[in-house]
Amino acid sequence: MNRISPHGRWNGKLTSRDLPVVDETIDALSKTERTELARHWLSRGASERRVGDAFLFVRDALRAGRAPESLVTLATRAVDDEMRHAEISRIVASRFAGRELPAPALLPLITPKHPGVNPEMRLTLWMLGQCAFNETYASAVLEASLAETTGPLANAALRELLSDEVDHAKLGWAFFATQSRAEQKAVEPWLLPLARVNLKMWRETPRDYPSDAKLVRQGALSLELLETALIEALKSLVVPGFREFGIDTSAIERWISTGAPTQDNERTSEAMQTPT
Ligand SMILES: [Fe+2]
Ligand SMILES: [Fe+2]
Repeated sequence: MNRISPHGRWNGKLTSRDLPVVDETIDALSKTERTELARHWLSRGASERRVGDAFLFVRDALRAGRAPESLVTLATRAVDDEMRHAEISRIVASRFAGRELPAPALLPLITPKHPGVNPEMRLTLWMLGQCAFNETYASAVLEASLAETTGPLANAALRELLSDEVDHAKLGWAFFATQSRAEQKAVEPWLLPLARVNLKMWRETPRDYPSDAKLVRQGALSLELLETALIEALKSLVVPGFREFGIDTSAIERWISTGAPTQDNERTSEAMQTPT
């Protein structure tokens, strides 16, 4: 069981709407397919739990950096959101398994050090890495997955996750808006490294891709779905987001136009390690 705060988004409730009790599409699956989907959703739960730890780190960093209290409050809510996501995922995994599954083991969180930058810039890089990049990628992947997911339980669960992830991405942009013009411009050289390292992490996170395309209809992420969503997130959300602030995005756009390659020696430890 993952602990849910009574002060969270739905005042201690796990979801905005109750998850469906009956799902005949699950009953129609074979035992092997159900086992595979249970594994997929449990692994998603482990990732969601780790993102909760990342937001604890973000919340404390915002406090230490004397960020506006409204942002600290949003980060605090995000911690609880991710705990809910972990629990929703565990419940869905249990439904596929046909028995109550325990919460998966905790995944380690590696936070980026960003050596050689001042504390203010480090906080900005953390916020952009975790929220503007990582949560934007997460939103795009969930949206693409939701479009393919026809299983009622999986669909309802993904819908709950998606609405929160969009808020988490907004937290990054809201923080960036509190920065001075000079501070925002100072981020320019970091954009491409942040985008690359986050994308590399998403691409290289170990996953069991579905053995059959029909499992995508129950929320499993195929490699093709993931890759398409990640590139689309860069093009339609990340680049326009920074352009809104008058940031030069030409380097990142050139990189995207060549397929956004990440096959080099970049260290993934420089990004917040929290893909879903
Ligand atoms: Fe999440
Ligand atoms: Fe999130």
